[in-house]
Amino acid sequence: MWHKGVEHSPIIITIDGPGGSGKGTIARLTASSLGFHVLDSGALYRLTALAAQNRQVDLADSAAVAKIAETLDVEFVSGECQKSSKIILDGHEVTHALRTEQAGEAASKVAAIPLVRQALLKRQRDFAVAPGLVADGRDMGTVVFSEALLKIYLTASVQIRAERRYKELKEKGESVSLPQLFDEIKARDDRDMGRSVAPLKPADDAVIIDSSRLSIEEVLDLVLGEYHKAVSTKSL
Ligand code: C5P
Repeated sequence: MWHKGVEHSPIIITIDGPGGSGKGTIARLTASSLGFHVLDSGALYRLTALAAQNRQVDLADSAAVAKIAETLDVEFVSGECQKSSKIILDGHEVTHALRTEQAGEAASKVAAIPLVRQALLKRQRDFAVAPGLVADGRDMGTVVFSEALLKIYLTASVQIRAERRYKELKEKGESVSLPQLFDEIKARDDRDMGRSVAPLKPADDAVIIDSSRLSIEEVLDLVLGEYHKAVSTKSL
């Protein structure tokens, strides 16, 4: 059982939102405060796209890409699917290759293929183990863990997200253009929000947090506050 958060079943917290809203960081911090596991579901879409590109499969060939998603040979060295773990795909380390803008762009293309989403469903649900899971993505609360105890939708303006990404890339010594990042983020939002299957949107029962003017600590406090409220309301 992955859902509901009733006795003996893992408690699920979902954190959905657009790229750059800080959900990966917040998911990791929330999980470490509560002693829960983490799922970075975006990594599975990135891995699928990367495996397809490595095998020279056209990203528009839905059936072939879905087959790759179904049979992904991946190892998360920390034992979790999260951004800090070392990731091995088909025997080669891809930890850094996965985090590039190009990998995100390719991931968003394969993520629009219904067969790919279907193929990754069980793999994602298998991450739900006791005592609990914090799942970060686009459709964690709406589709994958629709009966989660707590659903957060974390967002921020496109401008702020582009600035955050700009700073991050600059610190890594990469040469980047802020207007170009703005356009790329906007294009990815449009694709993720406009697709017919599992579009990015808040679940009806999600708590929406805009992180544009908040620090990481402030967002974490809000999320933990919502978690304690949800636990006491549902008397777990
Ligand atoms: O979160 P991240 O930037 O790693 O996600 C990469 C892409 O994977 C997103 O732009 C989105 O298209 C797709 N994705 C998705 N559903 C998820 C997680 C990611 O469609 N649950």
